[in-house]
Amino acid sequence: MTTAPYDDDQLLRARIGLASEIERASTVPASRVVEAFLNVPRHPFVPAFFRERDGVHLPWRAGDGWLREVYTDRVLVTEVDGVHAEAAGPDGVRGVATSSSTLPSLMADMLDALDVRPGDRVLEIGTGTGYNAALLCHLAGDRHVTTVDRGEHLVATARTRLGEAGFGPTVAAADGTDGYPGGAPYDRIVATCGVRRLPRAWLDQCAPGGLLVAPIGGAVARLTKLPDGRAVGRYLHCPAAFMPLRDGTEADREAPARRGDGRSTETDAHVLDDPGFAFWADLHLGPTVVRDGHVLRDSADGSIAHARGRTVVLGGPRDLWQTVEAAHRTWLDLNRPRREWFTVEAGPEGQVVGYAAPDGTTFRWSL
Ligand SMILES: C[S@@+](CC[C@H](N)C(=O)[O-])C[C@H]1O[C@@H](n2cnc3c(N)ncnc32)[C@H](O)[C@@H]1O
Repeated sequence: MTTAPYDDDQLLRARIGLASEIERASTVPASRVVEAFLNVPRHPFVPAFFRERDGVHLPWRAGDGWLREVYTDRVLVTEVDGVHAEAAGPDGVRGVATSSSTLPSLMADMLDALDVRPGDRVLEIGTGTGYNAALLCHLAGDRHVTTVDRGEHLVATARTRLGEAGFGPTVAAADGTDGYPGGAPYDRIVATCGVRRLPRAWLDQCAPGGLLVAPIGGAVARLTKLPDGRAVGRYLHCPAAFMPLRDGTEADREAPARRGDGRSTETDAHVLDDPGFAFWADLHLGPTVVRDGHVLRDSADGSIAHARGRTVVLGGPRDLWQTVEAAHRTWLDLNRPRREWFTVEAGPEGQVVGYAAPDGTTFRWSL
């Protein structure tokens, strides 16, 4: 793609600016990760992205302020309900973001945790724009990188952009739930979309001694694959509101059916806006409950809770908000346990998150 009207100096300064923001935002990533951000441009991967105004996503293409926005530590939404920003009309699109270029400082934290060395065989789930795949190519070497996304159009666009920017990884349209058996085993597996639990294929396709970095249960975890087939690790410190891996079984987005006018609660809905508490609450709510902002739904028994401020509207047989209230009390009593204090284990028999409190109490949750 053409980079006019920007000259090489402007583009270099823009990359230096982003690398400095990353260094300020993340916990001192390895110099080779920072060096990757200095060398791999972001702008070829996001010739258009959306800005949201009053619920409408409006496309923003190269022009006034565009380059500055591209090289800022921000998420850039590139697809809304399947409509790519490059194809969107000037009136924009309403809906939910379905693809984006991840927050660069979060990408840096994840790449740092992934510890990619030249020659490592790497699988990325969630190609999106292709920018992270380009960084992986810089770190591991093009021919060692495989990246998959669910949509043919997304994948074709990312492959073209990667080629234009001088990178040639394997880019495939596939359901990332199944990993990508064609290139297995991998030394490194990274997912840039969130899962409730680690798909079995990722565990199986990771080589012993290899690393997996993925948003699992609402926070980014880093696990090492053991020779016995299990993977064990910890959560990273960084907040991670990733778009979910879509497997075709997503709950509909209808407003929940009401049971009465709701009840009052001392636990304001906004407690769930704290990513540290949201992680803790999700663990207590259990694997069958899907949370979308302040709306909770249990796919097992149909219970729902929709919290608005200090009122919660309930539906179904169970009061899900009681679980949030109790979890909030424990979280405060335990002095707000941080994500990086939690362990995670995944094996053929099950997946468990653990936390040991300073008073010796241990907590274990099945994912
Ligand atoms: C945050 S974006 C990825 C950002 C990307 N790594 C980049 O650098 O631009 C998450 C991506 O996950 C993809 N995704 C969601 N469900 C998926 C699935 N089942 N298999 C593969 N990709 C999936 C989405 O299509 C979306 O492009």
